[in-house]
Amino acid sequence: MKLRESGMPEEDYWESLFDIELILDRMGIDATLHDVAELGCGYGTFTVPVARRIRGIIETYDIEPAMVERTIQRAQEAGLDNVRAEVRDVLTEGFGGTPQTKDACLLFNILHGEEPERLLVHAARAVHPGGRVLVIHWRYDPVTPRGPSMEIRPQPEQVIVWAQTTKILRFIPPLLDLPPWHYGLRFVATSSADL
Ligand SMILES: C[S@@+](CC[C@H](N)C(=O)[O-])C[C@H]1O[C@@H](n2cnc3c(N)ncnc32)[C@H](O)[C@@H]1O
Repeated sequence: MKLRESGMPEEDYWESLFDIELILDRMGIDATLHDVAELGCGYGTFTVPVARRIRGIIETYDIEPAMVERTIQRAQEAGLDNVRAEVRDVLTEGFGGTPQTKDACLLFNILHGEEPERLLVHAARAVHPGGRVLVIHWRYDPVTPRGPSMEIRPQPEQVIVWAQTTKILRFIPPLLDLPPWHYGLRFVATSSADL
């Protein structure tokens, strides 16, 4: 099921709304990471820069075939051989790879959909104990030039409560400012054996 308000604007406009390298720096996405998963790749806005930084493979999924095709195309154009992108409904089918194998799982601009706790559980299942679930989202502020409606836009405190319901994700303070328009949250998986 395609998540509510998850349609994408034109690619150049979308990518003008982020300082991608600053976001990756502050979220701790660097060569200390091996394999990474991403739920909802969109245009590959983050997939390709993440693939450049990590030492392993990024496995990414999107429900829209055009988004997956674009991400693969961009990875190929960048000469990267560590991007695996597949069409998948991550809400109903979950993370498609081997559970508990990733150093990190990215939930970027996706937790405003239906059943955010379920997505957090899928992300928690992807990472090994000690692995990270990394969340970014639009600031809870109506002046942002884009972003889901305020009624469904998650506040950081709400995301932390949702993550606690998984029982295995622990928030790593602080709340990160990702100017101009986003915030970031990092969680560590304590164990996912019982999920
Ligand atoms: C707002 S975009 C964010 C994309 C990317 N994470 C980023 O920040 O640039 C959300 C993406 O999630 C995808 N999506 C929506 N529902 C999905 C589902 N059930 N399974 C997988 N992807 C989904 C949409 O097609 C869209 O590309």
